[in-house]
Amino acid sequence: MEKSAFTVALLRWFAQYGRELPWRGISDPYGIWVSEVILQQTRIEQGRDYWLRFMEQFPTVEALAATSEDEVLRLWQGLGYYSRARNMHAAARQIVEQGGFPRSIEGLRALKGVGDYTAAAVGSMAFNLPAAAVDGNVYRVLSRHYGIDVPINTTRGKHTFEALAQELLPEDKASAFNQAMMDFGATWCTPKSPRCIVCPVAETCVALRTGRVNELPVKEKKLKVQERRLTYVYIRHDGQTALRRRPAGDIWQGLWEPLLVENEPLPELGCPLTLLAHNVKHVLTHRVLLADFYLAEPEVRPELPTDYIWIDEQDLGNYALPRLIEKLLDYLIK
Ligand code: ADE
Repeated sequence: MEKSAFTVALLRWFAQYGRELPWRGISDPYGIWVSEVILQQTRIEQGRDYWLRFMEQFPTVEALAATSEDEVLRLWQGLGYYSRARNMHAAARQIVEQGGFPRSIEGLRALKGVGDYTAAAVGSMAFNLPAAAVDGNVYRVLSRHYGIDVPINTTRGKHTFEALAQELLPEDKASAFNQAMMDFGATWCTPKSPRCIVCPVAETCVALRTGRVNELPVKEKKLKVQERRLTYVYIRHDGQTALRRRPAGDIWQGLWEPLLVENEPLPELGCPLTLLAHNVKHVLTHRVLLADFYLAEPEVRPELPTDYIWIDEQDLGNYALPRLIEKLLDYLIK
């Protein structure tokens, strides 16, 4: 869709379906700022009551600056993320010291706790500054409508979506556009069951046309690095040692390893076990391994699980071993 056509359709939608919120239609930057700080991590329904009470108790930035942090935190009770309240209180004092609210994005950005999003939101709604406020709703709406699969939780994603939102923003209607995007994302283009059937921009939605509404936006999986503890026992008996081939569906599929004990006590092999190495760290892509390595030299060949075979130690070189096992074998030689 031509960029301006998307914007026009969205603004028309907003005029009809935009939510009525107590801070809408005010131009007091203080009240707008308070609403944005509350809504950063709080749902609208809960935020509304807090905003009303907050504004009643501290109707101006001067009133907020003049009170104690304790007083602010008391009123914030139940909202969580208390650093928001502490930052806001500190910023109120910054504002009063400066002699009033900053009227530029850079000035707003310099306030404690104010990032790109909040600066753009307050700047556009209070001062009509032409800055796109890009929150999670905006990522979702734009990624779907324009079929963009750049992960939203990456620097490239942030730049991509901010640039597009900025391009779509009508300079003279920044406030309405930003709030239209938020409301549209929150009530129409929702994460789980978007209302595509009645969507005002369905005709030009790339995700809808290509059946990818539920796949967008894309989020890059943050690899949770799990730790896994492995204990290996190298058994030496009559010039032979025991190996097994690693099964499918796990790391090192098809490679060979000595007797492995995982999340279990050490085996009884009829002889003492000699610790050769403790907590040897081995980093794989998705996890960190911590290995212990023992040597056992029993008089009698022990019974092992059936997937272990006995091989001549001199033939070890014929078996493909994980890098960690090679490391462990080095301790044998030492
Ligand atoms: N979420 C954060 N700020 C908002 C606003 N001004 N309108 C609707 N949703 C919001």
